[in-house]
Amino acid sequence: MKIAIAGTGYVGLVTGVCLAEQGHSVTCVDIDENKVALMKAGISPIYEPGLEELMAHNMDRLNFTTQFKDAYKDADIIFIGVGTPEKKDGSANLSYVYGVAEQIARSIEKDCVIVVKSTVPIGTNEKIEDLIKSNLANNVNVYVASNPEFLSQGTAVSDTLHASRIVIGVEDEIASEVLKEVYKNFNAPMVVTTRKSAEMIKYASNDFLALKISFINEIANLCEIIGANIEDVANGMGYDSRIGNKFLNAGIGYGGSCFPKDTKALHWLANFLDHELKTVRAAIDVNENQKLKLFKKSRKYFNSLKGLNVAVLGLTFKPGTDDLRDAPTLVNIPIMIDDGANVKAWDPVGIDNFKKLYPQGINYCYSIEETLKDADICFIFTEWDEVKNFDLKNYSKLMKNPIVLDGRNCYDLRSVKNVKIIYDSIGRETINSLEMSLLL
Ligand code: UDX
Repeated sequence: MKIAIAGTGYVGLVTGVCLAEQGHSVTCVDIDENKVALMKAGISPIYEPGLEELMAHNMDRLNFTTQFKDAYKDADIIFIGVGTPEKKDGSANLSYVYGVAEQIARSIEKDCVIVVKSTVPIGTNEKIEDLIKSNLANNVNVYVASNPEFLSQGTAVSDTLHASRIVIGVEDEIASEVLKEVYKNFNAPMVVTTRKSAEMIKYASNDFLALKISFINEIANLCEIIGANIEDVANGMGYDSRIGNKFLNAGIGYGGSCFPKDTKALHWLANFLDHELKTVRAAIDVNENQKLKLFKKSRKYFNSLKGLNVAVLGLTFKPGTDDLRDAPTLVNIPIMIDDGANVKAWDPVGIDNFKKLYPQGINYCYSIEETLKDADICFIFTEWDEVKNFDLKNYSKLMKNPIVLDGRNCYDLRSVKNVKIIYDSIGRETINSLEMSLLL
């Protein structure tokens, strides 16, 4: 089967490479010539562990091009994997998806199944079908199917090769059979349903996970007030298989390319249809507040950060990626700078992207030690292994005031108690082994 993929972001490129790994011949299309040149040279334009190795392994089955017409004209299947970023009003921007749909309509010269992998609002597959059918340059049949993607950044390759499920949303037998054939070597349960249900499965899954995180964050905030420990609470809850033990890590809120935009997009869509999604609204609101949790905590120790050396550990929205989309640092660092702080920041892979947004005003460091040197306070925003494995004794050795605000609960409280530090994390007791009074 000849497969073409539109878009080489996380969804498009990972899907293309994984389908090639399953023996398919795949042409990945992108409008960005630089990206295509990199991929042709075997270099992944996105930071994703294991992806380049898999590209190298399948180069004979992979093509990369900007020439969409050549790629689409005789394809049996075309996957659409372009972005659906958030618009200012919270709704999804579908211009890239519709742009690709028009290109497909103008290019295809034989019957073709069009598979929508991009996360699109419920009803969009139908619109894509109408758009393609009304713009066809040749007399061919098209079958549009929804096939949402559930990969996470940092584990995208294994999430795709060992998918939890393959969701196929179809309105006809032909698309259904073709997709079953594409995925026949994947050892994953298949959920075959209508296109609208498939589109909804994607949003409902992401929004449910976002809600789970906001719920545990609210409970964590209450644990701090009451004197309970969120990790013990989450552990105790997780044994109930109806609740499950995943996605119960309290922290400074969810970021990334999916949860923030998909919660807002579904909420927007429901509102548009005069239906208020109250739980999703709550997940969004709790998350916005949670992102500022560490900054608010810093007020317990200093009236203001003016003139203080602030160490920031971690810039990305989670470890294993250089992606900064909706990372809590994007709201926190500007506030710190406005407050008069001298910010030093470290991240193993996120500095280059952060520098593009903030070329000045932040002292970027290439080791944790350098970042902590003479710091008055430290904020941990990402649970990188380098942070988790960092020798706790170094905080008091290097910092002027060893006050560590941990937004990702990187350390076991028992270990923290053995070092001289003020350690304030999420949903757990504050450890003050310096017995230092507040520095207000
Ligand atoms: C997510 C979904 O997991 C994936 O299925 C979907 O296809 C795309 O969106 P991703 O955004 O890559 O994937 O990252 P994920 O690991 O889910 O984390 C998202 C955010 O939630 C991160 O900021 C992470 O720190 C936060 N998170 C996650 C928590 O705060 N607590 C948790 O328990 C889990």
